[in-house]
Amino acid sequence: MSVDTCDDGKQEKLIHRVNELYHDLQSDQFNKLHQRRHVIEQRFWKSEVVPRLAATGFRFGVDLCTGTGFVPRILLEHLDRSVRILCIDVSTKALAEARSLLCGETGRVDWHVGDVRAIPLADHSADWVTLNAGLHHLPTPGAVLGEIDRVLKPGGYFCLGYEPNAMFFSCRPVYLLERTIWHLFWYFSPRRNWQRIRNLLYPRSDTHQETDHLAIINKRLLAEQIVSEPLTLGELRSLVDVHAQESDDMHAGFVPSELIQQYFRQYDVETMYMSDYGGEMLRSHQWLRWTVDTAMRAAYARRGMLFSLILRKPFTSNDA
Ligand SMILES: C[S@@+](CC[C@H](N)C(=O)[O-])C[C@H]1O[C@@H](n2cnc3c(N)ncnc32)[C@H](O)[C@@H]1O
Repeated sequence: MSVDTCDDGKQEKLIHRVNELYHDLQSDQFNKLHQRRHVIEQRFWKSEVVPRLAATGFRFGVDLCTGTGFVPRILLEHLDRSVRILCIDVSTKALAEARSLLCGETGRVDWHVGDVRAIPLADHSADWVTLNAGLHHLPTPGAVLGEIDRVLKPGGYFCLGYEPNAMFFSCRPVYLLERTIWHLFWYFSPRRNWQRIRNLLYPRSDTHQETDHLAIINKRLLAEQIVSEPLTLGELRSLVDVHAQESDDMHAGFVPSELIQQYFRQYDVETMYMSDYGGEMLRSHQWLRWTVDTAMRAAYARRGMLFSLILRKPFTSNDA
C-alpha cells in the first residue's frame, strides 16, 4: 500500500479515510449484509440495555458509530417519547440511510457526521453512550474511550456491544472449537454446499461489489495522495476492521478487563456478556449457538468470541 506504516499519524488518517469511503459505498446494502448479525445482536440491546435506561428516566444519549441506525432504532422504539439521541458516524451516506429509516422520529434524533474521537458535547452532558460493533474500526480505541468518559454524566451508562475478544483468539481450545465448527459447516452443511455450487456457477455479486469498491477507494486514496500504491483487497479489509481477526491472527480484539482497568477503572461493571463461542457459522442456528454459548461459558467464562459490556459511571465527582 506504500504508506509509511511507522508514521502513526499517516496510518490513522488512512484508516479513518478508508472507513469513511468503505462505509459510504456500503451504505445502501448495509442492512441487507448485516441482517443476520442485527437479528442476534438486538437481543442484548433490548433485554439488557433498554430496561436499564428505561429505569433511570434518563433523557439524552449519544450513539457512536451509528451506521444505518441499528442502536437508535431499538432505543427510540422502546424508550419514552421524550428521549433524544445524538448519532455520530464518519460516513455521510450511512447516516443519510439512518435518517431516512428513522424519518418518523423527527425531533428525537440529531445527526453528526464526524469522528467519534471528538464528540461534539460538553463534559458530563450525556446520560448514556452506546456503541455497537464500532470500536474495532478505530485505530486508537483509547481516544474514543477517553471521550466517552469525558461526556458521560456521573451515574451515566456506557453500553458497548459485540466487540472481538482477544481472550478468545489467544485461547487455543476455544479457538480450535470455533475453527472446527466453521469447517464442519463449510464442508458438510447442505445449504453451504448449495451456496458453494451457486457461487461457482454464478460468482457472487458481493465479491464483485467489494472489488468494485476497492477500485473506487484506491482511485480516491491515490488522488488524495494518502497512498502511493493501490491497496490489495486484504489490506483494505484489515484497514476497515483494524482490530478484528484477519486469517489466523491470534492477537485480534481487545481484552475486556484491560479496557475497563485502563479507561473505566472506577465504573461499576453491571454486565459483561460473552457470546459467539461457536463463531459466525452458528449465528443462523440459534438453538445450537445458545447451547454452545451456555456450555462454553461454564468452562471458559471470559472467552467468548465477542463481548458486550454495560458500565456505570460512579456518582462521586472524583470519578474521572
Ligand atoms: C460495523 S458498522 C456498525 C454500525 C452500527 N453500530 C451497527 O451495529 O449496525 C461500523 C460503523 O463505524 C463507523 N466508523 C468507523 N470509524 C469511525 C470513526 N472514526 N468515527 C465515526 N464513525 C466511524 C463506520 O462508518 C460504520 O458506519
